[in-house]
Amino acid sequence: MSNLEFFTHPSPPAPERLSEFARAVLEGLSAPEKRLPCKFFYDARGSVLFDEICELAEYYPTRTEMALFRAHAVEMARAMGEEIALIEFGAGALSKAELLLDALDRPRAYVPIDISGDYLRAMAARLKQARPKLNVLPLAADFTKPLALPQCLSQARRVGFFPGSTIGNMDGAEALAFLRKAAAVLKGGGMLIGVDLIKDPQILHAAYNDAAGITAAFNKNLLVRANRELDAGFDLDAFAHYAFYNPAQRRIEMHLMSLKDQDVTVLGRRFHFAQGETVHTENSYKYTIEGFRGLARQAGFTPRLVWSDKDGLFSLHWLEC
Ligand SMILES: C[S@@+](CC[C@H](N)C(=O)[O-])C[C@H]1O[C@@H](n2cnc3c(N)ncnc32)[C@H](O)[C@@H]1O
Repeated sequence: MSNLEFFTHPSPPAPERLSEFARAVLEGLSAPEKRLPCKFFYDARGSVLFDEICELAEYYPTRTEMALFRAHAVEMARAMGEEIALIEFGAGALSKAELLLDALDRPRAYVPIDISGDYLRAMAARLKQARPKLNVLPLAADFTKPLALPQCLSQARRVGFFPGSTIGNMDGAEALAFLRKAAAVLKGGGMLIGVDLIKDPQILHAAYNDAAGITAAFNKNLLVRANRELDAGFDLDAFAHYAFYNPAQRRIEMHLMSLKDQDVTVLGRRFHFAQGETVHTENSYKYTIEGFRGLARQAGFTPRLVWSDKDGLFSLHWLEC
């Protein structure tokens, strides 16, 4: 190192200048049980990896939910009503909305919301090209925070759309808080929501431990992102994807397990990982149909129609508010 480099070596940024991701990583890795929030999986690469997960033979939720849309979209669209503004939370590739939009009667607007901004804008542009008459208003935002919805929606009947079992990534209190906020925003309309169901743990285990290793790559994308955005030094081969069903909590847990004793630096701060220690990266809670309807009622919705496949793998709920 030259003298000049020595004197200009950057000091860690002040906390108030850190990105939300940086703060979450520094805080999560300092906790007694290390954790990282799953919303940070979704940068442009994470969104593409999630789409690849949706195509996997082991990943039953997407296939099952898509089949429910194909079979019942007309009934769902009738329940939602005509000339609605459809607001999708965590829209991803927009593929499920496309099935609904085909069945909806003169939708006034479609507002896909997603935290993965670049990916959202690309998907929205593609949809706009395919449906030039549809008013597509993408909103790059965190749906757990207060949302600034486009003004033009204030007069429309607002209907929420929340497929993909994304609600399963929230614990009970978070899910209740989210549903309460959604019920307030959608007052006078309703919400269609996809909810994964409790089932044979072997099916769940396979879905989150695919043979091709795509879910592992998705999980490790958090480390890739920290290396890129936070000048972190994670060795991807020194961590393993670790996912299992926790029956007492009724949830899949996803972790990254340290394969050896190691220190890793993030933004100039050093963190120790013991061999076998994990970073908890995601939960995916599973529900019974009645259990979810109870939660929705508690949040101020009136549960109406439910659609489920014959094997009871997945459910779609139409809730009014
Ligand atoms: C499980 S994927 C579901 C994607 C899609 N809706 C589907 O059904 O295939 C979760 C989606 O929600 C987005 N997401 C996760 N947390 C979010 C948050 N807090 N705010 C906004 N979008 C979020 C992710 O970027 C991702 O596109």
